[in-house]
Amino acid sequence: MEKRESGGIGFITGRWPLDAGKPTIVFIHGSGGGAHFWQAQVNGLTEKANTVAIDLPGHGGSKSAVKDTVEAYVAAVVEFLDTLDPPGPIPCGLSLGGAIAQQLLLEYPDRFSAGILIGTGAKLKVLPAIFEAIENDFTAFVGMISKLAASEKTDRAVIRLFQDDLARCSRAVVNGDFRACNRFNVMARLGKISVPVLIISAEDDKLTPPKYADFLESAIPQAARTHILDAGHIAPMEKPQAVNQAIIEFLECHGL
Ligand code: COA
Repeated sequence: MEKRESGGIGFITGRWPLDAGKPTIVFIHGSGGGAHFWQAQVNGLTEKANTVAIDLPGHGGSKSAVKDTVEAYVAAVVEFLDTLDPPGPIPCGLSLGGAIAQQLLLEYPDRFSAGILIGTGAKLKVLPAIFEAIENDFTAFVGMISKLAASEKTDRAVIRLFQDDLARCSRAVVNGDFRACNRFNVMARLGKISVPVLIISAEDDKLTPPKYADFLESAIPQAARTHILDAGHIAPMEKPQAVNQAIIEFLECHGL
């Protein structure tokens, strides 16, 4: 795995230089996350694809002013893609990253041959208690969100890794991320997504319950669905093999 930077955006990649004969999965993390979240996918999918996981602006290795709309994040990702120009980009996002991926597929229908949406929804209204905790007690917020993010069956060591990433983000950046989610709503537009989309949901996801994936599956014309058991919102960390297998099967099924 290599850590690199392009156009002000930090990213990790499973292969450098990228292989022109393979598609490039562009992994986009959720609120308060970072490129590291996708380590198991970046390392585990290199046989099938180039893997590029980015730090959104303000996170990890990407410095920038706080952003609080999905549109602003989309603009930054498009600028990054323009600079890097990876072969056959496929956006793959979790939660806020999934909102960014949906918006990319809607706004740039000719740029992407497929999309992957994990633990996300077409609307991402946020519990008021999350904003209150960010405002009043950031340490309590990190504890609260970590509890909501993982299945009760998940090893505590995995949750600690997620917590560490979150604690490294500033309060202002995390607040902007959740505000971006809270404003996001493309429920009425999903029928316009014209490429195959893999939707991955998880049994114990409390932040974006499987009901949200049911809606994505019914509204996106070319949707495929994988539902993962014994995992929560951070399924790519909790059940990396099941997530990677679902992605491999999706790529193979569509000749990507
Ligand atoms: N896909 C499908 N259905 C959705 C949806 C989505 N993305 N988002 C909301 N809905 C449904 C809700 O389930 C609800 O259905 P119901 O009336 O049958 O119960 C309805 O649309 C209205 O929900 P919502 O707009 O979210 O408003 P609300 O005032 O009922 O609930 C919250 C607000 C915050 C309690 C709720 O959104 C929630 O529990 N969110 C998950 C927790 C969270 O904060 N997640 C963070 C996401 S980043």
